[in-house]
Amino acid sequence: MERTRWYKNAVFYQIWPRSFKDGNGDGMGDLYGVLEKLDYIKSLGADGIWFSPLYPSPGVDCGYDISDYMDIAEEYGGMEAFCKVLDEAHARGMKVIMDLVVNHTSDAHPWFQMSRQRIEPYTDYYIWRPAGKNGKEPNNWDSMFEGKAWAWDEVRQEYYLHLFAVRQPDLNMDNPLVREEVKKILKFWLDLGVDGFREDVITFISKKEGLPDDHLMPASKGIRFYNHGPHIHEYLQEFRRDVFSKYDCMTLAEAPLVSPKRALEYIAWDTPDLPEGSDIDMMIQFQCMCADCLFTDFMPMPFSLRRMKKAYSSWQTKLYGKAWNMLYLENHDHPRIISRYGSEAFRKESGKMLAAMYLFQQGTPFIYQGQEIGMTNWYPTEVSQYEDIQTLNQHADWPEAKRLQLYHRASRDSARTPVQWSAERYAGFSEQEPWFHVNENYKEINVVEEEADPDSILQFYRKAIRLRKKLKVVADGTFREYDRASSKLYVYERKNKDQRLLVVCSFAEKEVCWKAPAWYDLKKGRLLLSNYGGMRLDKQGALLRPYETAVLLFQAD
Ligand code: GLC
Ligand code: CA
Repeated sequence: MERTRWYKNAVFYQIWPRSFKDGNGDGMGDLYGVLEKLDYIKSLGADGIWFSPLYPSPGVDCGYDISDYMDIAEEYGGMEAFCKVLDEAHARGMKVIMDLVVNHTSDAHPWFQMSRQRIEPYTDYYIWRPAGKNGKEPNNWDSMFEGKAWAWDEVRQEYYLHLFAVRQPDLNMDNPLVREEVKKILKFWLDLGVDGFREDVITFISKKEGLPDDHLMPASKGIRFYNHGPHIHEYLQEFRRDVFSKYDCMTLAEAPLVSPKRALEYIAWDTPDLPEGSDIDMMIQFQCMCADCLFTDFMPMPFSLRRMKKAYSSWQTKLYGKAWNMLYLENHDHPRIISRYGSEAFRKESGKMLAAMYLFQQGTPFIYQGQEIGMTNWYPTEVSQYEDIQTLNQHADWPEAKRLQLYHRASRDSARTPVQWSAERYAGFSEQEPWFHVNENYKEINVVEEEADPDSILQFYRKAIRLRKKLKVVADGTFREYDRASSKLYVYERKNKDQRLLVVCSFAEKEVCWKAPAWYDLKKGRLLLSNYGGMRLDKQGALLRPYETAVLLFQAD
């Protein structure tokens, strides 16, 4: 089937189901809640929804530990509620993509239960090894979440590999039977009508033969032996050939540690080395999330605008004409963006500026639940209030106060508090006490409030999305950056043969002046979007107030 690449014109909304909206009053988000809010999602201008995992799961990693790939968890409403959501989303012209998590399963998955007992054909579904020297782990790889990457299994009397939690054993993708299972899962959902997949840490699925010790990396040992591993393209090509090529669907790969150059090996449209065409359609890269940390949020550094600009801009220029970007500021794995790259003191201004900063770049934007109303980080008073397995294992030996300080800054639980729908009890998320804490600021920051305020972050998102859809230059224009060395301003221009679109963003808390190049007559621009209701220009250029943003349209010369 032809790949129409419909996603190029789409804006996606990500739902992390536990905390989106509780529809049946048990304190847990669910698909009944999603049904209630489909019109709201549509009203943002969204054309698609990405669901974080909805499958049955013990919940060790909030659903990223799956025990049944072909069902929907009862607590979310089961298959019936899902089919209803799928129909209703389609009826509103919205696509639906699922999260595909096949680097690992839950240890509760029947495959693992049978594998540990060596019941055929499941014996080699996972990565089992006998103990190394002196009963030690088979190699020195680290787990992302819990100590070393190996756990001893009493039943099988062998170690199994887990790159994430102990209860998330890695599948053995080198086993053709496992790849057949993956294809079955893909077909199952595509035949049901879903429109594609976000593929969880998919670049990790092929591990280097022999699983060698890693003597180079100080942390995340082993990652260079399984990220972009030896058979990765072969396996992705197989999935494409046997499944995806038969549907007009979209695939989005989560890819830690990927540069634009490496990404093109997977997503470039014109890929002579890949017989089935590009492996996947788009990539979730992490570089744009590393302007205030090193590799992970738990290794914080001061925010550097130049690092941020370099990340966004290089993906814009290096993919231009060759592949398509996925654009994002938030998801369920990172703290809230205003608290990171913006300012809580200038929440409204910086929330809007950040929206404009990414929404006018080329690519398919994703908005994470709550981002559109400018939700901010959560500041609990005790470590025990955190829920996330990744967070709780970070520096568990540190004193409480020090841990809290780091977690406030870095924990993805900040993005997992219930969506703030109103100023009512439990933020209108549920009538019951929710499964997780509500951010205390819900009385000021909530959807009802922002619907009523014409000047809210929510309304700004709607406006910006309407504009990006209207302006062809956002879809096809080239990308050029001004004042790259500035540590206060991010200014870029999109240009096609008819139009020039200028996007000016200040990341400063004080007033700054942007001196436009001499030939750039700002007065000739039509101001399409502003977070201050107008721009201040003088002979010098544009005088920008704290976190000011302006989007200006010029006719091409
Ligand atoms: C991905 C998911 C994250 C999860 C991890 C393990 O990074 O986005 O939430 O914890 O994979 O599945
Ligand atoms: Ca519920």
